[in-house]
Amino acid sequence: MQNIIMPKPYKVLSVIKMTEIEYLFRVEYPEAKNIQFGQFMQLSLPKVGECPISVTDFSKEEGWAEFLIRKVGIVTDEIFKLEAGDIMPMRGPYGKGFDLEKYKDKKLVIATGGSGLAPIRSLINHIYNNPKEVKSMELLFGFKDATSVLFKDEVQKWREKFQMTLTVDKGCGLDGECVGLVTEHIPGLKMAKEKFEDLEVIIVGPPMMMKFTALEFVKLGVPEKAIWLSFERKMSCAVGKCGHCRIDETYVCLEGPVFSYVEGKYLVD
Ligand SMILES: Cc1cc2nc3c(=O)[nH]c(=O)nc-3n(C[C@H](O)[C@H](O)[C@H](O)COP(=O)(O)OP(=O)(O)OC[C@H]3O[C@@H](n4cnc5c(N)ncnc54)[C@H](O)[C@@H]3O)c2cc1C
Ligand code: FES
Repeated sequence: MQNIIMPKPYKVLSVIKMTEIEYLFRVEYPEAKNIQFGQFMQLSLPKVGECPISVTDFSKEEGWAEFLIRKVGIVTDEIFKLEAGDIMPMRGPYGKGFDLEKYKDKKLVIATGGSGLAPIRSLINHIYNNPKEVKSMELLFGFKDATSVLFKDEVQKWREKFQMTLTVDKGCGLDGECVGLVTEHIPGLKMAKEKFEDLEVIIVGPPMMMKFTALEFVKLGVPEKAIWLSFERKMSCAVGKCGHCRIDETYVCLEGPVFSYVEGKYLVD
């Protein structure tokens, strides 16, 4: 009988330092064609442990998956010791991610806080390469300060094609841009001056950021069913067996991490 939680070994292709505490790992992954935007994998190290990490980007053609990992504890500390050529045991992909079909031919707004950009990056890159799949895309990114801005080269590239607001909580942003929380910039977005029909809003970030950002869009008049959130709930098995991720009757590992705000508003702790 097949053991569904047995990881398989994959080769680390590259490790790039993005910030002091966040590294980007590219891992050889021939099964990349099975990944959907916003899904996660369980990364593990023998005798250390396992942790869920979102696939931040992937290539079906070249057979790799990328992970933006923040060094916060036991497993991630050890993963940070890996170098190109080392083995990263992984299993997955898991969860229900962002369903591209729901955003096709729509006006898409994406608001992220900090490393919340990671789970949505693959979808942004897909739309960057296939802009005709949506009516428009507007991006609102918030970071703590200029040194915490992630994927700087891609951010500059996306800005050339799409309406973008990048804000930092304090100090001076990239190119002296906006300062202030993501929520403060919502009324000034281009979408706020347009009709809300055909609009879909995706919000990814820390729980409090998602809560108050969603409330701000609702205050503007965006229907709750047009808002999507992605949750980083604590997990263990990722296959609906252990109950670690359960909130009431909802198993976040199976039914999430992406939820409509209609359900998701009850899941914010
Ligand atoms: C669906 C999903 C996607 C995720 N995607 C990413 C990602 O793309 N990049 C990334 O860096 N991290 C991501 N995480 C969070 C990541 O799983 C945790 O940071 C990791 O499990 C920490 O493991 P550790 O052993 O290094 O830390 P531990 O030693 O277990 O804990 C260190 C600290 O982190 C806290 N912590 C542990 N797990 C979580 C968690 N799931 N959420 C919030 N706080 C936690 C602990 O309370 C403790 O304060 C994701 C989590 C989920 C559920
Ligand atoms: S993580 Fe085990 S049931 Fe969801």
